[in-house]
Amino acid sequence: MAIRIREARQADLAEIVRIERASFGDPWSESTFHAILTRSNAELLVAGEDAGPPCGYAATWWVEDQGELGNVAVAEEVRGRGVALALLDAAFSKLRDRGVRECFLEVRESNEAARRLYERLGFSVVGRRRNYYRRPVEDALVMRIGWDPRQAEIRHE
Ligand SMILES: CC(C)(COP(=O)(O)OP(=O)(O)OC[C@H]1O[C@@H](n2cnc3c(N)ncnc32)[C@H](O)[C@@H]1OP(=O)(O)O)[C@@H](O)C(=O)NCCC(=O)NCCS
Repeated sequence: MAIRIREARQADLAEIVRIERASFGDPWSESTFHAILTRSNAELLVAGEDAGPPCGYAATWWVEDQGELGNVAVAEEVRGRGVALALLDAAFSKLRDRGVRECFLEVRESNEAARRLYERLGFSVVGRRRNYYRRPVEDALVMRIGWDPRQAEIRHE
């Protein structure tokens, strides 16, 4: 499957919320996604065909040289085909272009698929937040990746 990544639009939000509700016990609301669309230091990317509905999304935000992966999910029907990798490659490349030098995320300790995905991308566990999640209550592991500014320069040559 050829995966195209683009910025989300208002019209994508209904499908994003459908995927979100199917993916998480404590899902974000449509207004949370809408707020990300309107923030100047946040970005919502989607995977999918130009005209069609999105099949996955990733939300990031940043303050100066620090970024955060706030959310990523892929529709169950298309998991295991590299959609999350494509989304996160694009999201992190954009963060690096903005001067972000390190990125953090939280992940449920029991979420093996996501932990493997993040490890594959180079993240490592740097901390734990006790009882961070609801429905069900569970610890979050905090993961971090650092990006060498020289690598960003090389990519632009
Ligand atoms: C986690 C999630 C986003 C992965 O999306 P995906 O498009 O299926 O992932 P990809 O196909 O790009 O997989 C990339 C890598 O992630 C890891 N991975 C993905 N799914 C996995 C699974 N079920 N078990 C183990 N590793 C998995 C693998 O390392 C995989 O690489 P590989 O296929 O070469 O082994 C998806 O399962 C999802 O939406 N889950 C529900 C929402 C969620 O948990 N989001 C993360 C919140 S922190």
